[in-house]
Amino acid sequence: MASTPPYTLKWGIMATGRIASSFVKDLLTDPTTRNVYDVRHQLVAVASSTSKEKAVDFCARVKAPSGVKTYASYTELVADPDVDIVYVATPISHHFQNTMLALEAGKPVLCEKAFTVTASQTKKLVANARAKNLFLMEGVWTRHFPLSVNVRELVSSGAIGTVYRVIADNSFNQDLPDSKLGFADSHRMVNLDLGGGAMLDLGIYSLTWLMQILYHLQPEKEKESPTVVSAINKYHTGADEMTSFIIQFPKHKSMGIGMTALRIASGVDYGFTGGPAIKIQGSGGEIQVLGPAFKPRQYRVIKKDGGGEIEVVDCPFPKDKNRDDWGHGMYWEADECARCLRDGKLESDTLPLDESIVIMELMESVLKQGGVEYPEIITNDVYDPNSLLNTGKA
Ligand SMILES: NC(=O)c1ccc[n+]([C@@H]2O[C@H](COP(=O)([O-])OP(=O)(O)OC[C@H]3O[C@@H](n4cnc5c(N)ncnc54)[C@H](OP(=O)(O)O)[C@@H]3O)[C@@H](O)[C@H]2O)c1
Repeated sequence: MASTPPYTLKWGIMATGRIASSFVKDLLTDPTTRNVYDVRHQLVAVASSTSKEKAVDFCARVKAPSGVKTYASYTELVADPDVDIVYVATPISHHFQNTMLALEAGKPVLCEKAFTVTASQTKKLVANARAKNLFLMEGVWTRHFPLSVNVRELVSSGAIGTVYRVIADNSFNQDLPDSKLGFADSHRMVNLDLGGGAMLDLGIYSLTWLMQILYHLQPEKEKESPTVVSAINKYHTGADEMTSFIIQFPKHKSMGIGMTALRIASGVDYGFTGGPAIKIQGSGGEIQVLGPAFKPRQYRVIKKDGGGEIEVVDCPFPKDKNRDDWGHGMYWEADECARCLRDGKLESDTLPLDESIVIMELMESVLKQGGVEYPEIITNDVYDPNSLLNTGKA
């Protein structure tokens, strides 16, 4: 019997920066290197808000096949009838306007994290996608790793009993003399105009670990949104540079403790020789996740009644030998988009849109409690196709 050919998803890429390049290189890897046979990806078009040359250079950088269209504006990209889905890889400041631009043109969207700057913006994106019957997902790649799937399944199966606490840290080693950080003040990591700060860029991964265990796995009928308290140290640009938060689920008697910081690291080598940055603690044992919170590579299961035995599981990121041994790990979230579109699903079960809204509400509250304020142009929730954020002028 002939096997069904894989479903092909045709991608349009909005922006030509660092993560767009990693994502596209993953799209171009052979899915069978990661044992995926039911879906595949095709790069159809790339747009730069700055110039066509930038889009052409991008295609050369990622070794794109010939025939990929290049545009000098995001508006042209979203109007391309060959594009099935738009990947938004602009700075966080731009996500609301750019995603709305694509949705308004009738395109499904995968938008990089953090979804938006405010919860109200995320709610408007979700409402618009639902009104137009368009697929939409926040690009939190970590959720789709086999490691995350395994860990969620382990917790659901009761392998460590009832989970009462998750601790997660995602901190970068960027301290320099004279109280500086290793970024120019204009860099998107610390520039408020671009949605900068530790929480939205890095803390979201700590929060991801807390939420995918403590919230996502709650049965639908028992869903309890958490409360949150936070503490923030600010950088001289006004962005948050060290942020800690506690989310609490009183009905479930559980808590999550999340941390992020730009000056110090989560551990000298992300827990492989020191303590793990992620600990999932249950009544019957503990799961420790090793490696950076955004890209962990190993987990350990330590059971209370296991006589000290530690089960160690490695979760590699498959590489494509025919594409310079490339394989970053973003292909799994791309595969999820392909399966959702193939199956007519408007959102992913792995990161449902209502959960993205709760996450954005938490992050907004964390930042408000610490007194972080972003400029009006990036917090307003009124869509404007001619916004400077859509035309490459901001
Ligand atoms: N999933 C992950 O692991 C991961 C890792 C890093 C970053 N990210 C997320 O990806 C997004 C982009 O991060 P990045 O590291 O790729 O940033 P980046 O290298 O600075 O690239 C951002 C791109 O956005 C476009 N852009 C439009 N207006 C801009 C403006 N005013 N300033 C700067 N760029 C502008 C530019 O492309 P054109 O000029 O060609 O339009 C630029 O190349 C962020 O939301 C970030 O949180 C995710």
